[in-house]
Amino acid sequence: MVRVLFVCLGNICRSPTADGVFREVVKREGLADQVEVDSAGTAAYHVGEPPDSRSVAAAARRGYDLSVLRARQARPQDFHDFDLVLAMDQENLRNLRRICPPGRENRLRLFLDFAENFSEREVPDPYYSGAKGFDLVLDMVEDACQGLLAHLRAEHL
Ligand code: 4NP
Repeated sequence: MVRVLFVCLGNICRSPTADGVFREVVKREGLADQVEVDSAGTAAYHVGEPPDSRSVAAAARRGYDLSVLRARQARPQDFHDFDLVLAMDQENLRNLRRICPPGRENRLRLFLDFAENFSEREVPDPYYSGAKGFDLVLDMVEDACQGLLAHLRAEHL
């Protein structure tokens, strides 16, 4: 079993999008019993809430269901429970480093390190952007999920 955790700030836009997309990718590839997927936020503002309705709608247009997800905050135990902890931006990465138990730093990466067609290293926060921001998040997430799948096949599965 390989476990992957996606992390952003609020766990209501970017990381639930990655969670829903990668879950679907894993299911389509027949790997659902070998890959566990979850998401969390570095902040606690939205704990217990469903994803932002704009993220849910944008994802639904591409066939992903985010509606069942609920926000939670990232915690040190996540670095024991997950093989990969993938941050959406540099600020998330910095905040995760602060709660990372000693010796577990190698589990922490920027999600877009796995992107194949985007040279950006950060998924821009769409919270204060218009609809286009949510579609850009999906474009980046779909791309990096393909790279992540290839990485898991090469290194973990
Ligand atoms: P996320 O987006 O980190 O992609 O979930 C945000 C959600 C909420 C806030 C900021 C970013 N907020 O400030 O409440």
